[in-house]
Amino acid sequence: AKDPVRVLVTGAAGQIGYALVPMIARGIMLGADQPVILHMLDIPPAAESLNGVKMELIDAAFPLLKGVVATTDVAEACKDVNIAVMVGGFPRKEGMERKDVMSKNVSIYKAQASALEQHAAKDVKVLVVANPANTNALILKEFAPSIPEKNITCLTRLDHNRALGQIAERLSVPVSTVKNVIIWGNHSSSQYPDVNHAVVGGKPVREAVQDDAWLDGEFIKVVQQRGAAIIKARKLSSALSAASSACDHIRDWVLGTAEGSYVSMGVYSDGSYNTPSGIIYSFPVTCANGEWTIVQGLPIDDNSRAKMDATADELVEEKALAYACISE
Ligand code: NAI
Repeated sequence: AKDPVRVLVTGAAGQIGYALVPMIARGIMLGADQPVILHMLDIPPAAESLNGVKMELIDAAFPLLKGVVATTDVAEACKDVNIAVMVGGFPRKEGMERKDVMSKNVSIYKAQASALEQHAAKDVKVLVVANPANTNALILKEFAPSIPEKNITCLTRLDHNRALGQIAERLSVPVSTVKNVIIWGNHSSSQYPDVNHAVVGGKPVREAVQDDAWLDGEFIKVVQQRGAAIIKARKLSSALSAASSACDHIRDWVLGTAEGSYVSMGVYSDGSYNTPSGIIYSFPVTCANGEWTIVQGLPIDDNSRAKMDATADELVEEKALAYACISE
C-alpha cells in the first residue's frame, strides 16, 4: 500500500474548502489508490466551524482518509505537507479599495510562504486559489525562496474548464470531447480564453463552431465574466467548480496530462511567448513525472497577441501594487 500524502487546505472552513476536502478524501485529487492525511487551516474566528468540518470528515468514514489535522496554527498546518492548496484569504468587502484587499492578502501570503518554507516537505507542490490568485502566488514564491519556483502555481483551471463547458454547450457535445483551450494570463476578467488551438472530436473548434464572431466576442466575455454570473445567481461565489478544478490541476500535475492534451496553469513566467518574466501567468502546459512544461511553438496571431499583452500588463501592475503594500 502507498504511504499517505499530506494535503494542506487553507481556508478550509470556507465555501470552497467545504466542497474540496471531501473530494480529496475520496481520491479525486490524487487517485483512488492514494491514502491522504488532510491538514486544514483557518483563522480563530472560524475554529469552531473548522472543527465541525473535521467531525463531518470523520462521520463520512472515507476509506482513503488516514488522518485529519484541523488547526488555526500555521506552523502545525504546514508540517510535512506534500501538497498545499491555498484557499484562505481576505475577501473584498463593500467599500474596500483594491489596494486594501491587496495589502491584506500580501501580508497573509508573505507569512504563509515562510511557514511553508520552514515546515512543509522540501518538494511541496503549492496551488494558490485565493484571489488575487496570480499575485498571491507570486508573493508566496518571493517569500519562500527555498521552495523551487516550479512548485508554486495558481488556479486558472476553473477558467479553462469553463471555456471547455461553453464550447460543449454550444455544440451539444460531451465536454470530454473538447480539449486544448488555453487561458492566458491573469485569473481575472482580463484573462484571454483562446480557442485557436482547441479541438473537438479531433476537429478544430473554429471549424466545428463556424461562428468566429461568437468565438471572438460573446464566448470570451462569458468565460471572463462567469465568476460574476455565478455570484449573481447563487449570491455566493463559485465553490464546487473551483474545488473540482483545483483537483484537476493537482491531479494532472502529479499524475500527468493525457497524450496530446494540454491544460492551463498559472506558473512563474520564463518569458515564453514574449510574456514578461517575473510574474505568475497562465500558460498552456503538459505535465509528466510531477513537472509541468509550457507548450512551445503555438502560432499567435495579432488579435491574440494584443489580448495576451493586456492581461500581462495587468499582472505587472498588480505586482507593483503588491510590492508597494510590502514596503509600506
Ligand atoms: P470563503 O470566504 O467562504 O472562505 C475563505 C476562508 O478563508 C474562510 O473560512 C476564512 O476564515 C479563511 N481565511 C481567511 N484568512 C485566512 C488566513 N490568513 N489563513 C487561513 N484561512 C484564512 O471564500 P471561498 O468562496 O471559499 O473562496 C476562497 C478564495 O478563493 C477567495 O479568495 C476567492 O476569491 C477565491 N476563488 C478563486 C477561484 C479561482 O479560480 N482561482 C475561484 C473561486 C474563488
